[in-house]
Amino acid sequence: MRPFVFINAAMSIDGRITDWRRRQVRISCRDDMKRVDRLRAESDAVLVGIGTVIADNPSLTVKSKELREKRIKEGKSPNPVRVVLDSKARLPLNSNILSNDAETLVAVSKIARRDRINLLKDVAKVVVCGEKKVDIPLLLNILFENGIRKLMVEGGGRVISSFLKEKVVDRLFIYVGGIAFGEGVNLVEGRLDPPVKFELLKAERVGRGFVLEANPVYKTEATDMQ
Ligand SMILES: NC(=O)c1ccc[n+]([C@@H]2O[C@H](COP(=O)([O-])OP(=O)(O)OC[C@H]3O[C@@H](n4cnc5c(N)ncnc54)[C@H](OP(=O)(O)O)[C@@H]3O)[C@@H](O)[C@H]2O)c1
Repeated sequence: MRPFVFINAAMSIDGRITDWRRRQVRISCRDDMKRVDRLRAESDAVLVGIGTVIADNPSLTVKSKELREKRIKEGKSPNPVRVVLDSKARLPLNSNILSNDAETLVAVSKIARRDRINLLKDVAKVVVCGEKKVDIPLLLNILFENGIRKLMVEGGGRVISSFLKEKVVDRLFIYVGGIAFGEGVNLVEGRLDPPVKFELLKAERVGRGFVLEANPVYKTEATDMQ
C-alpha cells in the first residue's frame, strides 16, 4: 500500500524549474504561492530531493497561520512531515528542513556512512531504504505504514523523474510562469524511456500564470503496441 502521490512544481515557459545557475528564481506569483501553501496544508507529508535542499535550503512549512490552525483543529500537527531523499546522508545539519517546526524524515540508502546516519538521527528520523539510491516504492510503503496517506512531491527534476519512472504518481500540478531560461534544470531530469503519457485535465489561470493539472497514463508496452 502507498499514499496518494501528487507532484507540484513551477516551471518556466521553456520547461525549466530553475536557471543554469541553479539559484532560486521566482517563476510563480503570490496567488500561486497561496495555492501551493494550501496543497501543503492538505498533505500529510511533503518530499524533496537533497539537490533541492542544498540549492534552496527550503523549510517546507505551511506559511499561513490560518491553515496551520485548521490542521491543529483537525487533530494534525501544524505542518506536514518533511521527507528528504538523501542516499548518502549528506544533509547539512543546519538545513532549514531540520527546524523544530515539523517532523523530518531523511531517507538514505545502504551506501550512507554510519557516522553521518548517527549525526542525522539526533535531529531527524532516518530510514535506510534502497541499495544505492533511495528505493521509492519501498519508501512509499514505509510512509503509508507511518500514517501518511497524501504525499506532495515538490521536486527537483531528478526526483520528479524517478517518481514518474516508478509509476507512482497519481496527479501532477504544474504552474507555468511567463519566463524563459533557455538552460537550467528541467521539470523532468533524465530520459523517460518509454515516455510517460498524461491525460491533461485542466488549465486554469492563477495570478500571472497557468496551472496545468494532469494525470499520468501508465500503460504496459504490450498495451501501447496494440
Ligand atoms: N520550480 C520549482 O517548483 C522547483 C521545486 C523544487 C526544486 N527546484 C529546483 O530544482 C533544483 C534541484 O533539482 P535536482 O534535479 O538537481 O535535484 P533533486 O531532484 O532535488 O535531488 C536529486 C538528488 O536526490 C537524491 N536521490 C536519492 N534517491 C533518489 C531517487 N530514487 N531518485 C532521484 N533522486 C534521488 C540524489 O542525490 P544522492 O545520490 O546524493 O542521494 C539526487 O541527485 C534546484 O536548483 C531547485 O531550485 C525547483
